[in-house]
Parts: sequence; structure tokens; C-alpha cells
Amino acid sequence: MCGIVGYVGKKEALPILINGLRRLEYRGYDSAGIVVHSGDKALVVKSVGRIDHLHEKLKGHKISGSVGIAHTRWATHGGVSHENAHPHMDCSGQLILVHNGIIENYRELKKELSSKHSFKSETDTEVLAHLIESYYDGDLRKAVEKALSKVRGTYGLVAMHTQEPNKLVAARLGSPLAIGVGDNEYYIASDTSPMLAHTQQVIFLDDGEIAEVTDKHLQLYTLEDQRVYKQAEHIDWDEAQAEKQGYDHFMLKEIFDQPTVIQDAYRGRLDLENGTAHLGGFNMNEEQLRQINRIVLIACGTASYAAMVGKYAFERLAGIPTEVDVASEFRYRDTIIDEHTLVFAVSQSGETADTIAAVKEAKRKGGVVRGIVNVVGSTIARETDGGTYIHAGPELAVASTKAYTNMVTVLLLYAIQLGRLKRLTIATGERLVKGILEIPDKMKQVLAQSEQIKALAEKYKGYGDFFFLGRGINYPVALEGSLKLKEITYIHSEAYPGGEMKHGPIALLSGEFPVMAIVTKNQLYEKMLSNVEEVRARNAPVILVATEGDEQVKSLATDIMYVPSTMELLEPLINTIPLQLFAYHMAVILGRDVDRPRNLAKSVTVE
Ligand code: AGP
Repeated sequence: MCGIVGYVGKKEALPILINGLRRLEYRGYDSAGIVVHSGDKALVVKSVGRIDHLHEKLKGHKISGSVGIAHTRWATHGGVSHENAHPHMDCSGQLILVHNGIIENYRELKKELSSKHSFKSETDTEVLAHLIESYYDGDLRKAVEKALSKVRGTYGLVAMHTQEPNKLVAARLGSPLAIGVGDNEYYIASDTSPMLAHTQQVIFLDDGEIAEVTDKHLQLYTLEDQRVYKQAEHIDWDEAQAEKQGYDHFMLKEIFDQPTVIQDAYRGRLDLENGTAHLGGFNMNEEQLRQINRIVLIACGTASYAAMVGKYAFERLAGIPTEVDVASEFRYRDTIIDEHTLVFAVSQSGETADTIAAVKEAKRKGGVVRGIVNVVGSTIARETDGGTYIHAGPELAVASTKAYTNMVTVLLLYAIQLGRLKRLTIATGERLVKGILEIPDKMKQVLAQSEQIKALAEKYKGYGDFFFLGRGINYPVALEGSLKLKEITYIHSEAYPGGEMKHGPIALLSGEFPVMAIVTKNQLYEKMLSNVEEVRARNAPVILVATEGDEQVKSLATDIMYVPSTMELLEPLINTIPLQLFAYHMAVILGRDVDRPRNLAKSVTVE
């Protein structure tokens, strides 16, 4: 939550900061602010609302300078207001700060500081600004270090001081910060997207590190004042991947990206000849892998639904008992993990606070923890002792689509690889590998139906409630379809395993409660048809996701979205797409803010 950008160099800072904020707007968008060091002053402009509002407001100011910081906020402490928007300042107005995270002991610090400092906002961040002020004696980095030694909580922060005009100080504990290295210039940001247009050389700060950045140097220290030396990493993502490329919304572009990016998830990792996959990320030899007797998948939201698909695959292909744990529950339960438990943390951002905490807990308990992550260099990628990047490219819409697909793909590859070491035959392995290679073309066939699905969304736009039903491998698909619909359209929706309806939820059904059911031809096809009959008997409109050519379902359905057939374990890669499109078109028809739905942020970096 919250996005931070900083720049120090020779160029005009303002456009770099504004464009950077636009890249980070997915991290929070209730208010924004910017400061540029101009002449001997720092000019601060803030605004409630989106970056566009801030941009409009900036048009009335003459701002020129080559050092500055900016922030887009997702409110935690203090409501959405001009005063609570970042940047925050000390009493003198010389120390200016942006912050992502939570200062847990801000109340006690505020009490200690309040006799000598006056506060303008309700935020924890402003307390930090005054705390740094209380230690400042001409060296900003030292003052930040001393202040942070008093702080409990999490932070990614960037500070500047008008007495040291060409300097930014950045520090990290629990909230991500990356520094892009240019030619006598540095870009600081919560992730790499604001810097991709300028540099692909990036240094990721680790927890407990502090950076002093000027247009001439970048020096890293620990909070204990020890120098740290790091090489910049090359980031493959490029600027074009982070553009809408003619699509109306990032979400639509990312849905249509899927046939391409799925190939990045499996390229070089499939072995047709041996009916297997090769992922280096296990970091274990075959003997160690054979000793794995349990798998735990930890994740949140959409990533947890991808993980559920992984559960089916690990159990069926490798015969290893597998659990999916929502990270926010895992971290507070007495979970049983030992050295034969393989734990996968699944996350697009790699920065989800609950998942990070669960990773730490699993490691403390001696589990073998690996990451399945999209964002290169992210915290989970670095906290885990191996794992695999899903290579979905930048995902900017708050609603996850292509990252889900690539998570599912990587989990399937892991399951095939483990399966081949255990009980999976070469013949089935080969069929799975072939099946995966056919997925991009089948995805395109579904995407070609976008306009028909739009018409369906138009037809159902007046309904306030939806049910999603699926069984087996399609139960997580139902959950994901339901989450997509509710998060971007604000329509109430629920997802249930088909067989569970009659244990309570069926009481809700009526002609006003459409049911979206996934009835593709797999081993549970007949069972699902019976569940759909039960729905029809309650007069609920029925929309089916069915296998191409299936005539039998016509008599059961009000409407049908046909999908090409594939092997059962691969079905989520296809069957989820019509549900993504349905949610997308519905959101557009209802006039929702598709890419930035209310109350949400892309990376949930607070508990
Ligand atoms: C997906 O559409 C959601 N916005 C959300 O559930 C998301 O998947 C969840 O917050 C997990 O994020 P992560 O993959 O970055 O860890």
C-alpha cells in the first residue's frame, strides 16, 4: 500500500516524479503529494484523490528542480484528507518525508515529542518526520538512522532536507524500496516500474538498510552505520510492457496478454521427451525431493486460488498431501511444519505482508520454503531459499489475471516434475506437456469471444447477486470468477463447490440470483449437471461455462460460454478466462473504475 518515488540527478524532477506516481498508482490512490527542491526552497503540493488531480493542481505552480520525492497514499492512520496526504514535514518545514508502512509506536513517540513539536496531521508518518528533526544536526542519514532505532513497525521511506539540497535518504524495513542507477542520477521507488523508462540497473534495499543518494554517489549502510556494498541487478521488464498498448484498461490488456505470457512461464522448462518439467527453483537434489512428504501452499486472494489448483495437481500427479493456507491465517495458527514439508509462498507482488510473515514463520519452523513470485527482486523472492519467477511481466490492474494464469502454470510444472520423481508415468507426463503447449491457442479461442461475453454482461447487468459453482479443479475457478466480479463491479457474489449448495446456500436462490456454473467435460461433469438441475428447479438463471460441442447442456442453460477442451488439470488455464472477461465487461458497463476499484490496492503491504 502506498507508492513512493524519488529522483536525484540533473534532469527536471517533476515529470519523472509524476510519471513514476502514475506507475505506482495501483498501490494506493486516495491522495497524492510531491515535493521538488527548487532554488533554496522545497515546494510541496498535495491533493486528495487521484494523481490526475495532483497533476492539475501542479499546473498552477512553477516548479523546476532536479531533486524531489512523491507519494500516492492508501490510508491507514488518519482519514483521506489534504493534511494526511504525504509528504510530511517537521516543524521547520525543512525536513520532508514520504513513507510506506506503519509506525506501530507512533502514539508513544508523539506523546514524547508533543511538548516541543506541533503536529498538523493524524498520521504516523508525521511523527517520524518530527523524530528525525529531533536528531538532526546537519547529517540527514545519521538523523534518520537514530530516529529509526526508536521506531517499531514497518517502513519504506525517503527523506530530504533543504540544508542538504542534493541528497535523498532512503530506508527500508518491511516495505519495499528499489534504487534505479542511471548516469549520475538515481531513481528511488516502491517497485521498479517508475524507473524502467530510464534504467534497467536496479539495487534492491534489504530490510535494515539505509541509502544516501546524491547526483554523484549512492552509499548503502546498515542501520548500525556499517557500509554495505551491492551490485546493481539487471531487470528484464521493459517500459512497453507497462503500457496499455491501445487497450482501454490495463485489466483488458493483461487478460489478452495471457496467451503470450503463459509461454514465458513454461519456456525452457518443459521436457516433452521425458514427459516432465525442469524448474531449478527447488534447490534440492532428487533424493531430498523424494523425502518431501507434505506440501503447504501459502498465499492470499487470487494467488490462493491459483494455489488451490496446485493442490489438486500435487495430490494427483505426485501423490503428496497438499494444503492451501491463506497466509493471514497461517501466520497465527499452530501450523505443523517440519524439514520434510515443502512450503511454497505464491504471490504476484512478492510484497504481501501476510504472505511475507507466513514465509518467516514457516522458515522458523524448519520448513523448506520456496517462492512462486512475479516481481523480480521482491521481498518474498529474497526471503525464500529458492523458487521460480512466473514471468507474467508487470501486472498493473488491481485485479489479477495474467499473474494467476502464470502461477497456475508454474505450479503445474512443479507438480509434473515432482510427479515424475514419484508416480507419474512418462505417457501422462507427455500428455500434460503437450496439453500445456496447446494452451495459448486455446486461450485465443476464448478471447475471440470477448464481444459475445460483453453482450452477456449487458444482459445480466441489472442483477445484484451472483453465484459461482464449480467442482474439483473448477472449484478454485469458481472462487476466482466470483472474486473478479465482486472486486471490480461491487456486485455481491459467492462461490461454492457444486455439491455444497444443498447444505445451505441454495436457500438464497430465486429468479433474481443468476448462477454461473463451470460444467466442462471432466470426471465430475455428470455431478455438476445434477447440481445445475437443482439450481434450475429454483428458477435461477443459469450461465454455463461448457465444453465446445456439448449439446446436452443447452437444455439446462439460460446462456452458455463455450471453451475448448483440454486435460482436466489444465482446465483452470482456459475456464477462468471467460469469467475474467465477464467481470471486466460488467465493470465497464456499470461505469466502475476497472483498474483501480474502490478501497483496494494492488500490493497489500500492511496486515
Ligand atoms: C486479485 O485480483 C486481488 N487484487 C488480490 O486478491 C491479490 O491476489 C492478493 O492481494 C494477493 O496479492 P499477491 O499475489 O501480490 O500476493
